[in-house]
Amino acid sequence: MEETKQLNIWLDGEIVKYSDSNISMLTHSMQYGSGIFDGIRAYDTEKGAAIFRLKDHVKRFFESAKIYNMKLNYSEDEISKAIKDVVLSNNLKSCYIRPFAFYNDSNIGLSVYGKKTGVFIAAVPFGNYFKDKDIGIRCKVSSWRRISRESLPLKAKASGNYANSVIASIEAKNCGFDEAILLSTDGYVAEGPGENIFLVKENKLMTPDESSDILIGITRNSIIKIAKNMGFEVEQRHIRRDELYTAEEIFFTGTAAEITPILDVDGVRISNKIGQITKTLSEKYSDIVHGKDKEYLHWLVSVET
Ligand SMILES: Cc1ncc(COP(=O)(O)O)c(C=O)c1O
Repeated sequence: MEETKQLNIWLDGEIVKYSDSNISMLTHSMQYGSGIFDGIRAYDTEKGAAIFRLKDHVKRFFESAKIYNMKLNYSEDEISKAIKDVVLSNNLKSCYIRPFAFYNDSNIGLSVYGKKTGVFIAAVPFGNYFKDKDIGIRCKVSSWRRISRESLPLKAKASGNYANSVIASIEAKNCGFDEAILLSTDGYVAEGPGENIFLVKENKLMTPDESSDILIGITRNSIIKIAKNMGFEVEQRHIRRDELYTAEEIFFTGTAAEITPILDVDGVRISNKIGQITKTLSEKYSDIVHGKDKEYLHWLVSVET
């Protein structure tokens, strides 16, 4: 926390010290979960810090705002530039970047009508999201179901959706697991609280499809493309809970989680060590994000450009 206070953030067009930045205590988005955001990573590459799939993240950020009818005062290009500026201004090489759009208002009411919007962009040093990422984690199928697409628009990365993620994570951790896996209301595997999920069986990859109440992750999309280019078959479909137990390998994907192997679900041992396909994809992904794979350089944008 002390470290974060020393960082610069971008707040509505200006780079300011995190500790000097001010927004209303009564901001609607803090009380009612009406913010929208994205999560992006920059990686250290031979040519300095580079942001992974910046355009896609910024596009999703604007789509989230559009779904919530939130008028942002900036263009996609302006936000992309601001993201680079905030990384540069903090002199960060590897970091996690959080653009956040919110209703910045002191009116306590629930209505958003006529409220001003604001945007901040924070960039913080960031390593592995899961302490045991390199050895594999243990997950619990949550007793909480993933919010349904009939209750909230899941295509939007909106703060309100994350109450569901937080409650599932709390339960999993209280029960001694590293992370939760949520099922959709109709009982199919959906995703982790902040991660998409992949299963491997008989050399084939499987991941819940868009109708399984998931956030369409950019890492998920990257892994589907990478795996297909490597010659793997990838199925996007409904996945039953018992398929988790009989999978040969399971892993999470996400900007924060990157590729995190799951070795155990509900106490059922999936594999004793990280599976070969998970390892291969994880190494490939690491090369790609660090700019070591020529084929995927178009997914990286230097912060200096
Ligand atoms: C609920 C949820 N699912 C999946 C993901 C993975 O998405 P991405 O790969 O775009 O980070 C995230 C992270 O943003 C998330 O919050």
